Amino acid sequence: MPDQWTRSLEYYSRAQQSLAGGVSSPFRRTFPVPLYFQDGEGSKVQDVDGNWYLDYVLAWGPMILGHKHPALVEAMQKAAERPFNYGAQHELEFTVAETICRLVPCAERVALTSSGSEAVQLVMRLARAFTGRTLIVKFEGHYHGWMDSTLLSYHPSPAQMGAPEQPTIVLGSKGQVPNVVENVVVLPWNDRRTVSEFFAGRGQEVAAVMTEPVLCNSGCLLPVPGFLDELRRITRASGSLLIFDEIITGFRMAAGGAQSVLGVVPDLASFGKAIGAGLPLSAVAGRKEIMDLLSDGQVAFGGTFNGNCLSLAGAQAALIELEAQNGEALRRANRLGEELMGGITRIGQRLGLPLQATGFGTAFSVHFTSRPVLHNYRDTLADDRELLRHWLFECLREGIFLLPDGRVYTSVAHTSEDIERTSEAFERVLVRCASEVHV
Ligand SMILES: Cc1ncc(COP(=O)(O)O)c(C=O)c1O
Repeated sequence: MPDQWTRSLEYYSRAQQSLAGGVSSPFRRTFPVPLYFQDGEGSKVQDVDGNWYLDYVLAWGPMILGHKHPALVEAMQKAAERPFNYGAQHELEFTVAETICRLVPCAERVALTSSGSEAVQLVMRLARAFTGRTLIVKFEGHYHGWMDSTLLSYHPSPAQMGAPEQPTIVLGSKGQVPNVVENVVVLPWNDRRTVSEFFAGRGQEVAAVMTEPVLCNSGCLLPVPGFLDELRRITRASGSLLIFDEIITGFRMAAGGAQSVLGVVPDLASFGKAIGAGLPLSAVAGRKEIMDLLSDGQVAFGGTFNGNCLSLAGAQAALIELEAQNGEALRRANRLGEELMGGITRIGQRLGLPLQATGFGTAFSVHFTSRPVLHNYRDTLADDRELLRHWLFECLREGIFLLPDGRVYTSVAHTSEDIERTSEAFERVLVRCASEVHV
C-alpha cells in the first residue's frame, strides 16, 4: 500500500471497531482502501492524508454544483438560523415543487421524500394503486435502490442470470423476502422484441414498466433509438404506466432530466441525488390524476423528514443555478464531460487499447472491452475488470477520483483546465496500462 493513504488506512481500521464495516454504504468499500475525506472546494476534494483530487465521484452523483458552491453555502447559512424542520407546511415545499413542475415535462404534481430508494417505493405504489395491478416490469442491470421490492437482478452473476431473453430474477441480498419476485418481471434492456412478446402475453397484468432512461448503473448505456418510444407506446396500449427512474439523470443530463432530452415523457418519475445538490432530498413527479391519489389518502405515504427545511433550502438554491440562462450551466458541464469522453476514446484508439466510453457528458463510463457495441448489462460482462481496477488505481495516484465501476461524473464546477489536466493524467495512465497489457 503506497504511503500516500496511511491515515485513511488507520481511520479504516479504527472505524471498523465501531461502524459496521467501517463505511456508511458497502458500495464505498473501495480499492485499495476506502478513502476518508476532510475537505473539498469546487471540483476538488481533499483526503485526510492531505491529498487533493479532481472529484469525478461527486458523492455518487449529488454534488452537481461541486463543493461549497457560494449560492448553496449562503442558502445553508441562512437556513441554519431558522428552524430545520416543522413537520408541517412551509413555503419552500411548494416553491421547489413549482420549479420542478416548470422544468420536468412529466411533472404536473410533485411529492417530496428524502432518499432515492424511498421515492422508488412511492412511485411503484402509485402505479399499482392507479392501475389496480401488481406486476412491475424492470430490466436486468438496473438499480432502483436497496429495498426488498426492487433489489432484483441488479448485477447477477453469469451463473445465476439465466437465458438472455428470459432472465432469472435474482435477489440482491441475503435477508431479502424471497416472494417479492412474484410481483416483478425482469426483462433484457434495449430489446424491443422481448418486451413486445412479453406484453403480447401478459401486458394486461402490468402496472408499470420501470427503467433508468439511461442505464447509468451498469456502464452508462444509452437507450437504442426507438426503445423508450416503444416502451411508451406499449404501456399506453395495455393500460399500464411508464416510470422513469431519473435519480441519476435528473438535474444532471439536463435541468428537465433525461425525458427532456430523449423526448419520451413517462407517467411518473423518481428524482434524487442532484435535486438536493448534496442535501438529502428526493421527489416523485407525475401526471396529476395519478399523483392525486395522494391527496385524499387513497395511497398512503409518510416521512418525518419530508419537506425538511435544510434540504429544500439547498434544492431551491441549486435549482436557481440550474435553471438560470435556460439551463446553460448543465449544458456547459455536459459539453466539458463530452470533451473528456472524446479525449479518452482517442487516446485509447491511438494506443490500440480496447477502450470505449459510453453515456453522456456529465455521466459516462470507461469500458475496457473489445465488444464493438454495448446495449445492456450482459454486454458489459465482457469488460476487462482487472484492467479497469488497475486504471482506477493509477488514476487515483494521479489525483483523479473516479467511481469504482469506471463511471465519471462531472459537475458545473469542473473547468476546462480540470478537463485538460484530467485528459493528460488519463493519457499518462493509459500509456502505462498499454505497456503492461503489451498491445
Ligand atoms: C437509478 C437509481 N435509483 C434509485 C437509487 C437509490 O437512491 P438512494 O441511494 O438515494 O436511496 C439510486 C442510487 O444510486 C439510483 O442510481
